[in-house]
Amino acid sequence: MRVGILTGGGDCPGLNAVIRAVVRTLHNEGNNVEVVGIEDGFYGVVARRFRTLQSDDVSGILPRGGTILGTSNRDDPFDFDRDVDGERLAGDVSERAIANLSTLDALVVVGGDGTLAIANRFAALGVGVVGVPKTIDNDLRGTDRTFGFDTAVGIASEAIDRIHTTAESHDRVMLVEVMGRHAGWIALHAGVASGGDVILLPEIPFDIDAICSAVEDRKARGKHFSILVVSEGAAPVGGGQVFYRTVKGGAEQGRLGGVCHTLAGSIEERTGLETRVTILGHVQRGGTPSAYDRVLATRLGVCAARQALAGNFGTMAAVRGTEIVAVPITDADGGPRLVAADHPLISDARATGVRFGDV
Ligand code: F6P
Repeated sequence: MRVGILTGGGDCPGLNAVIRAVVRTLHNEGNNVEVVGIEDGFYGVVARRFRTLQSDDVSGILPRGGTILGTSNRDDPFDFDRDVDGERLAGDVSERAIANLSTLDALVVVGGDGTLAIANRFAALGVGVVGVPKTIDNDLRGTDRTFGFDTAVGIASEAIDRIHTTAESHDRVMLVEVMGRHAGWIALHAGVASGGDVILLPEIPFDIDAICSAVEDRKARGKHFSILVVSEGAAPVGGGQVFYRTVKGGAEQGRLGGVCHTLAGSIEERTGLETRVTILGHVQRGGTPSAYDRVLATRLGVCAARQALAGNFGTMAAVRGTEIVAVPITDADGGPRLVAADHPLISDARATGVRFGDV
């Protein structure tokens, strides 16, 4: 049996732990399985960047961030536009991809919504696909949780703790922008974990007066500093998200970032307190995964390998409560899994005095 594995979309701490678990489980529980690593996501499928992965190749990668296979978040074989071996390939090159995949009996795809949607199209065309959900944003449908999220929350929380002490020393309002394009899971968890005073999520449009009154209320209580934890995708009531750049090509053409800069001036003007902005950016996605994410990624990888061995295709390894189960890969469809306005962590945070910028 030959089983391929690729990682697609933005990278995420824990990808290497998944690759290691898939390779080891296929070798240990399968009968003479060859594992084929595909480089740079679906680009590697089209360009046939295949290499055999031995158990030794995955030795020592468990704590490493990134992905040893490389990844791509802009290569869709159904709508392709890249050079392959000096030749420009444009349009639907899925037939070429399927010809390359025909040498495999199964394909494990580790990715987010975009990558899994492509995988699903190949599954419909007869490729033996098994998915593993991935994103630091924790907003994929079909699974209660994704690996990488715990690591991102840990990095953000540690950074906010550090911001806290300097905010207090200088009596400043410090705005910390964290990742979260559509969903505010990282801001919510990191904000609660690090004692943020105001947390802004994409799901709750903010009102500048409400934010300033939260800061003023603290000032009235003798707290001359405040910490705002802000999702990059947060937007004002009736307004849009803030992009620092728009690019051509790829699924996500707007580069989010800078909402905190738009807020900082207004807060300073209205409250008279000095403001500073920190944008954490990709530091949240880099480096070693937390122990929790290593365990979760390992369990998802083992589950996916077992589905491949059993021929249980069109499925995705997923978290349901404390269990790891195989669900239809289509369960990931339907857009991001957002933070509900009545999520218990929001009401718990409100109970401890956190404000969400709403009126
Ligand atoms: O979806 C994961 C994510 O990290 C988002 O939180 C963020 O908006 C986006 O990826 C950044 O993508 P890129 O690496 O392409 O800038």
